[in-house]
Amino acid sequence: MSNETEERPSARKVRALSLEEAIDGEAQRVDIEDQKIAIVRIGEIIYAIADMCSHANYSLSEGPVDSEEVTIECWKHGAQFSLCDGNPVSLPATQPVAIFEVETDENDIYILIPESSN
Ligand code: FES
Repeated sequence: MSNETEERPSARKVRALSLEEAIDGEAQRVDIEDQKIAIVRIGEIIYAIADMCSHANYSLSEGPVDSEEVTIECWKHGAQFSLCDGNPVSLPATQPVAIFEVETDENDIYILIPESSN
């Protein structure tokens, strides 16, 4: 009845770090293929956000993490981004930064890289 095609985006699951390497309250940069990603651990939760400020090309992983607000701050001009959805929560950035789905097992952290992101 419907000729609608359902397109389900696929993703590659790529190991990023061991859980031991992810330090609580800090960001660590990983390079996965051509993606630069900041991995942030807050307690038992792991977040992954593109390691590039949307205001200018500066690395978010070099900025401080706010564990209570669940944000990371760009060290260059101070914009903060939600680690939950990548949206800016303070100026001067006005555009979001991509986030990535994360999976963990008992030892390792995996990032789901969308196939369309190449
Ligand atoms: S480069 Fe990140 S706030 Fe300006």
